[in-house]
Amino acid sequence: MKILVTGGAGYIGSHTTLELLRAGHDVVVVDNLINSHEEALRRVERLAGRPLAFQKVDLLNKEALAEVFAAAPIEAVIHFAALKSVGESVVQPLRYYQNNVTGTLNLLEIMERHNVRRFVFSSSATVYGDPKTMPITEDIPLSPVNPYGQTKVAVENILGDLYRSDDRWGIAILRYFNPIGADPSGQIGEDPNGIPNNLVPYIAQVAVGRLPHLPVYGHDYPTPDGTGVRDYIHVVDLALGHIRALDKLRGETGLFVYNLGTGRGYSVLEVAAAFERACGRPIPLRVLPPRPGDAAVSYADPTRAERELGWRAERALDDMVNDSWRWQSRNPDGYAAGGG
Ligand code: NAD
Ligand code: UD1
Repeated sequence: MKILVTGGAGYIGSHTTLELLRAGHDVVVVDNLINSHEEALRRVERLAGRPLAFQKVDLLNKEALAEVFAAAPIEAVIHFAALKSVGESVVQPLRYYQNNVTGTLNLLEIMERHNVRRFVFSSSATVYGDPKTMPITEDIPLSPVNPYGQTKVAVENILGDLYRSDDRWGIAILRYFNPIGADPSGQIGEDPNGIPNNLVPYIAQVAVGRLPHLPVYGHDYPTPDGTGVRDYIHVVDLALGHIRALDKLRGETGLFVYNLGTGRGYSVLEVAAAFERACGRPIPLRVLPPRPGDAAVSYADPTRAERELGWRAERALDDMVNDSWRWQSRNPDGYAAGGG
């Protein structure tokens, strides 16, 4: 199929684009490069041994987006493009709603105009807030605790209304747990701007000496070692989940919601220890108070995705951190340095 990937230069988008090319799909990427580098796409092409089409387009520029659809017979859209920093969304809520919600509305309107009705959406476990029972199933009430999470719920609601208005749509909402890792080649990976917010990119920068120690947010959560527990999932497993969702939408219409996680949680200390094994260096820790808004524990019930998509996460924590480390150690300054 000819697939439009929005945000395809980003972390998850670049890995998914690579798997799409490997699976034989043709890919058109649109990205405004606000949080990514075109170099990621050049590397994806080299790894796949096949070209892709890239257009530097902002989803808020409706005319430019419409031209992409006019120029190529798009059959399905995977929509990654969004701003994703929780802290930033608290300070700049209007920018987040504008980018993530209006950008998606623009995209859906143009899709409708061009009779393209297969849509895969990047949602997040953040839509669940801080649920009381684990594992998290798709049916629990949504309760986001920050503007970023609200933008994800807003788009999920729009997609529900859209499907109820026109059942020719095939929509897969994928709620990711905590993506980490990188393609095993070490050529593409996560390249956050500035000081990372998320655990594994932070550890990776401690390991290469860019940051002095890992802040451990909270040590007396009701967990086995007192630190927060999350469902970390290898980004390649996540990318493959998108291919399975697309396969489903090729054959049927409907509105589908899936958790993409492994179903098991690891603590901050377990992840730090695994990373030490991967890189062979100590990761100095500094225990700090809990980060506001953080849940103690979060892990998925991924059985619906297994049952309906035939997908399950295969890669273990050690694979995830080994692959994160390979990317980070070969690209200590990310894509900006241009090496690799
Ligand atoms: P990322 O920032 O690496 O990728 C997002 C891409 O979208 C970037 O390349 C950015 O330049 C682009 N973009 C943003 N706004 C745009 C716009 N208006 N027009 C065109 N391009 C735009 O983030 P990621 O980690 O790859 O996340 C991809 C998606 O998955 C996002 O929707 C994110 O909210 C969601 N998600 C991510 C995580 C995670 O931990 N990484 C977890 C759950 C959900
Ligand atoms: C965060 C976002 C969430 C988003 C997800 C994407 C917040 C509050 N939540 O989730 O909306 O969907 O990323 O992956 O930002 N930790 C440390 N030290 C650090 C960084 C993190 O101890 O330097 C701990 C956290 O307290 C948490 C765990 O590591 O227990 C994972 O944190 P992180 O990678 O930021 O992911 P989430 O908080 O799950």
